[in-house]
Amino acid sequence: MHETLERWSTRRAFILAVTGAAVGLGNIWRFPYITGENGGAAFLVLYVAFVLLLGLPVMMAEIMIGRAGRRSPMQSLGHLAARSGASRHWRWLGLFGAATVFCILSFYSVVSGWSIEFLVAAINGDFRGASAADIGAGFDAFLADPARLTFNHSLFLAMTLLVVAAGVAKGLERLNNLLMPLLYLLLVLLAGYAATTEGFGVALGWLFLPDFSALTPLVVMHAMGHAFFTLAVGACALMAYGAYMPDHQSLPRAVGAVAVLDVAVALLAGIAIFSVVFSQGLDPGEGPGLMFVTLPIAFAELPWGALWLSVFFLLLLLATWTSSINLAEPMVATLQGWGLRRGLATAVVGVAVWSLGMLSVFSFSSLAETRVLFGMNPFELVSTIPPEVFLPLGGLLIAIFAAWVMPEEAARYALDVGPGGFRLWRGVVRWVAIPLTLVVLVAGLS
Ligand code: PHE
Repeated sequence: MHETLERWSTRRAFILAVTGAAVGLGNIWRFPYITGENGGAAFLVLYVAFVLLLGLPVMMAEIMIGRAGRRSPMQSLGHLAARSGASRHWRWLGLFGAATVFCILSFYSVVSGWSIEFLVAAINGDFRGASAADIGAGFDAFLADPARLTFNHSLFLAMTLLVVAAGVAKGLERLNNLLMPLLYLLLVLLAGYAATTEGFGVALGWLFLPDFSALTPLVVMHAMGHAFFTLAVGACALMAYGAYMPDHQSLPRAVGAVAVLDVAVALLAGIAIFSVVFSQGLDPGEGPGLMFVTLPIAFAELPWGALWLSVFFLLLLLATWTSSINLAEPMVATLQGWGLRRGLATAVVGVAVWSLGMLSVFSFSSLAETRVLFGMNPFELVSTIPPEVFLPLGGLLIAIFAAWVMPEEAARYALDVGPGGFRLWRGVVRWVAIPLTLVVLVAGLS
């Protein structure tokens, strides 16, 4: 396949697209619940440190490879490897990335489906006047009903693939231009509301006053995995977007903007959710149900609660939509690179992801006690290992390729930085990001 000619039409469109990929369930659903499970502020500090030390430089590396190759991830890697006389086997890294996003999208679509259900319920006012026990029981009953989970999973996946089939740059640009600014507006409103609740002060202390005594290598690995997950780094998904990046745009600046926007969403969502948790005396370590159970409980008692809640779930749905489009892209690009038409490639990806997602659907009923590996059921497995092991591993290989294998002048050109900036980036990738990822992975897994 030759170079793609498709480009994001403006610099802003590129930043919005990458932000759309980064901001999603990771920020609004996963960040609060794993921060809750891992003790709060100390975890948050680690996560931010990993975003800065690993996330940013590796994100630059990943997008830069796509931009220099201007092809699907597999072909970009193969092409650039050949140009520097390295082994063409590097292209399998693109396939590993596609396998990673395949696993991630399968559970991502199921959980995003939950927010469709909750959006509809919130609009209907189903939570109005309900007690905490009712809401908890309602959520459990919903999870135990595979037919409803399947319906929402299918609907969400169809929404995603419709945009993907239209061609990412065209389909996504229109969506992002509208959605991302709206999302920030809604989040700031929600956090502003949280500031008026009585749990606000406790939530801030819990989120921002770290106690490092409880840290273990496993917690550190969770924080690293989450940094990769939330930035959408390590699966060659952003590499696929880099291929459409316009010429003459500084990559470090774009990536910096995205990281700030991404962390801001997590913090705003965390402040809103934990204010509610502490106002209501709920358990921060509740797990994957944290957001879905705590928010309806809190909002049920508030004036305009149904409206606030609908707004929240709408926002979540929009954010997960743009992320899942990015998750689908590397798979579609890979199949297209193998000669399939885009429409057909999208359909194949849809059937495969839908099928794997059904294992997550049944993980809340008939497969709940089926321990596939490491004592985890299918949902626990796909929502833990790919984000926390595959993404860092992919990121590590991407970093090695970008900083040690790729021709230097191609890397510098695609990063769009001066010689000093280039040396700084390469130094950080070579001597900080690569060893740190390795150490945390090995310590966490052993
Ligand atoms: N960053 C997305 C989120 O936080 C998830 C994602 C991971 C997207 C990997 C693309 C690639 O929801």
